[in-house]
Amino acid sequence: MTKIEQIIAYAQDKLMNEKTGHDFYHARQTAVLAQKIIKQDQLSVNEFIVFTSAYLHDVIDDKVTKNAEKALRELGDFLVEVTYSEDEVQQILFIITHLSFSDEMFGEKKELPLEGKIVQDADRLEALGAGGILRAAYFSGAHGQKIYDPTIKVRKLQSKSEYRQPSTTINHFYEKLCLLPELMNTTYGKQEGLKRKKFMDDFLKQFYKEQEI
Ligand code: ADP
Ligand code: NI
Repeated sequence: MTKIEQIIAYAQDKLMNEKTGHDFYHARQTAVLAQKIIKQDQLSVNEFIVFTSAYLHDVIDDKVTKNAEKALRELGDFLVEVTYSEDEVQQILFIITHLSFSDEMFGEKKELPLEGKIVQDADRLEALGAGGILRAAYFSGAHGQKIYDPTIKVRKLQSKSEYRQPSTTINHFYEKLCLLPELMNTTYGKQEGLKRKKFMDDFLKQFYKEQEI
């Protein structure tokens, strides 16, 4: 197997049973979108780092694995085995541990290298548009969260633990998803993010119209 095939196989294995909206096809789509960003913005980066970080970005996430520290150690060992250099391994692990929305909003904000900024935008595009709507509903179902409850108010979130407290799928649009285009790092990410947000705004309009009947 080539290095690339080994990465894909690892992502496939780790994300096979994922049932909160972070499965293998989300990882694959993140890699595809990252490629698209590189091309559209004509960026000069280490594409290998981008590709690997995109496929593996959720493998060490506390949403996907019970033991994030162990998953990180295992992943580091695997990357060395696949013959990534010590420096590349450090870069990939840094990117995927500092990628997430919650970390950026509530953690100690770390400046990502350009490779990481690209993967971050690709991951955020995946949270928007038709796919993003489905993922938010799917995540909600997996976490026992309601679709809609007008008595639960939209929160202005201050901490990661607060963010992880259940809300509703509809509230999630306002608490996170609609904020994403503003946070994009790349030109294509922002452009495509705004298009996808427009689709969600129209979806929300239709949703509220249905509520009034
Ligand atoms: P990150 O890993 O960047 O912190 P999240 O865990 O917030 O990102 O989001 C990953 C996916 O799960 C996104 O598609 C997001 O919409 C969905 N998600 C996260 N939290 C919620 C929630 N409270 N309700 C609905 N969907 C959620
Ligand atoms: Ni992701």
